[in-house]
Amino acid sequence: MRVGVIGLGAIGRFLVRILNNEQAVPDCTITAALDERGMDVLKGKLLGVNATIRGFDRLEEFATSGIDIVVEAASKAVAANYVPRLLSRGIPVIICSAGCLADPAVLSKVEEACRAGRTHCYVPSGAIGGLDLVQAAGVLGKLTKLTITTRKPSLGFGLNGGTAAEPQTLFEGSAYEAIEKFPNNVNSSIALSLAGLGSKRTQVRVVLDPTTKGNTHHIHIEGAFGRAEVVVENQPLPDNPKTSCLAALSVVATLRALNQPIRVGV
Ligand SMILES: NC(=O)c1ccc[n+]([C@@H]2O[C@H](COP(=O)([O-])OP(=O)(O)OC[C@H]3O[C@@H](n4cnc5c(N)ncnc54)[C@H](O)[C@@H]3O)[C@@H](O)[C@H]2O)c1
Repeated sequence: MRVGVIGLGAIGRFLVRILNNEQAVPDCTITAALDERGMDVLKGKLLGVNATIRGFDRLEEFATSGIDIVVEAASKAVAANYVPRLLSRGIPVIICSAGCLADPAVLSKVEEACRAGRTHCYVPSGAIGGLDLVQAAGVLGKLTKLTITTRKPSLGFGLNGGTAAEPQTLFEGSAYEAIEKFPNNVNSSIALSLAGLGSKRTQVRVVLDPTTKGNTHHIHIEGAFGRAEVVVENQPLPDNPKTSCLAALSVVATLRALNQPIRVGV
């Protein structure tokens, strides 16, 4: 499987190391990359990585470079613009910036593009877990409550330090409002909403917590099935403290699942 990656940032570069250097998924390598920063800058960042990757700055050339699948790891705006265009030409996409799907117009464009291209858009579990449970619990509309509390230190919000010593709630409201306010921090809440009650009925609390080192997510699920809680204490990626290592690993797991005859947890 030849993979094209959009965005050679923290997730993109992690994927190059894991897929091309460590061959974490058999017969699966990144062969093409699209990044607005240009390949000259990125080649420096990829030093030490055993990768023969063609760099592109235009979607058209990238899409026709012989790739079988694309991983979007750039931003909400990039995903909204490029993902439907790739899907409609039959290229499946694994989307990291799940937040773009909170916009109903983008969501229906992506769905239409999947139908037109007879392909699929995959939303990995990202920095959280339990999406399988949420989907099962929601069958026949039997899910009644879905909340997520996201705690990050100041670096996790892209802030340099700060004076607060106590945890501080920055936001409380729907996932739909949360992704507007924190476009780079609450992608997980949109993945969760898509699995369950939708972004307007999924409740989000965002906490700036100077006492925590990593990015923590606490999810509560209630429904006819019973109740569940999922707590994930993430280690951030060294290249971007806003992004959890698990988010990048979940992309690798998705690529692996696509190659497996038996798929577990779907
Ligand atoms: N689903 C989840 O749980 C989850 C978790 C963490 C991050 N994310 C999301 O994944 C995405 C990538 O995260 P990251 O930490 O690797 O980000 P990053 O900022 O480290 O890297 C983003 C890369 O995209 C490139 N880029 C930006 N605009 C572009 C454009 N128009 N065309 C081409 N390239 C462009 C940048 O140059 C950069 O190299 C972000 O949207 C982030 O919010 C999702």
